[in-house]
Amino acid sequence: MLQKTFHEIEHAAWSERAAQYDAIFASVSTQAINPILDALGQLQGMRQLDVACGTGHLVGAASKRGAVSEGVDFAQTMVDVARVNYPRNCFQVADAAQLPQDDRTFDAITCSFGLNHMENPQGAVDEAFRVLKPGGRYAFTLWFGPEDGNELQAIIQQAISAFAVNPLALPKEWVQLRAADETACEVITRQAGFRPPTFKKLSIALQPTSAQEVLDTVNKISIRTKMILDNQPPTVQQKIYETIRSAIESRRADGLISLVCPALLTVVQKPG
Ligand SMILES: C[S@@+](CC[C@H](N)C(=O)[O-])C[C@H]1O[C@@H](n2cnc3c(N)ncnc32)[C@H](O)[C@@H]1O
Repeated sequence: MLQKTFHEIEHAAWSERAAQYDAIFASVSTQAINPILDALGQLQGMRQLDVACGTGHLVGAASKRGAVSEGVDFAQTMVDVARVNYPRNCFQVADAAQLPQDDRTFDAITCSFGLNHMENPQGAVDEAFRVLKPGGRYAFTLWFGPEDGNELQAIIQQAISAFAVNPLALPKEWVQLRAADETACEVITRQAGFRPPTFKKLSIALQPTSAQEVLDTVNKISIRTKMILDNQPPTVQQKIYETIRSAIESRRADGLISLVCPALLTVVQKPG
């Protein structure tokens, strides 16, 4: 039985993961930064806010392009790392669905791989709309699921489906926007008041040196998948890990492993 809310579990998990996030996952998630910033157009002198900024790399990259960029994240430890990474930028602790910023402050808002972790993604999109200036743009990314070409998720899901004996039913609010879905992104942004979205599929790749490195990443970064794995008896866990390991190793070609993990970039504009 799950005793905590999704929000509480996510908050505790990200608070713990901040110190190792850059070493384990930044090489993957930062692949979305340039496509997101390219979609926003000219950033010189623009005020831009990155929501769920994690360790701050999008803020650093936007500043390099001339934006006056700042970040918010609900985990104090993420904000602490972001401040060390980019000491010249402003980072604050805030929930995406309750931003401290005034109405009509920013020319652009971004949120990379954040909405899929939120209990209230509609609240976060509504807040982005509120703090954007008329005509401002909002760009966000979400991972595609296994059925849309996410090879890593497909391998993990197949292994779990084959062996898991204790399925952990995830409550409804845990799976909203869990995977990229153009219709859902269109609905959630229209509901907030944005113009119709444009979409782009981003080719992001995981290039681990070993299958064990992928398992370590899953165990140290994923939240819901790790809960499902932890809910299995040890012998079942071992079978699942072995299956994932051999599926990943079988993909090695010329000594290298590459797993495609595509993401959806959604860009919308607030009416002028
Ligand atoms: C997968 S990480 C992405 C971090 C960064 N945007 C990146 O692309 O590397 C998800 C981030 O969302 C933050 N987050 C999750 N829910 C949030 C919320 N409700 N409000 C603000 N930040 C949130 C987490 O603390 C974490 O830093």
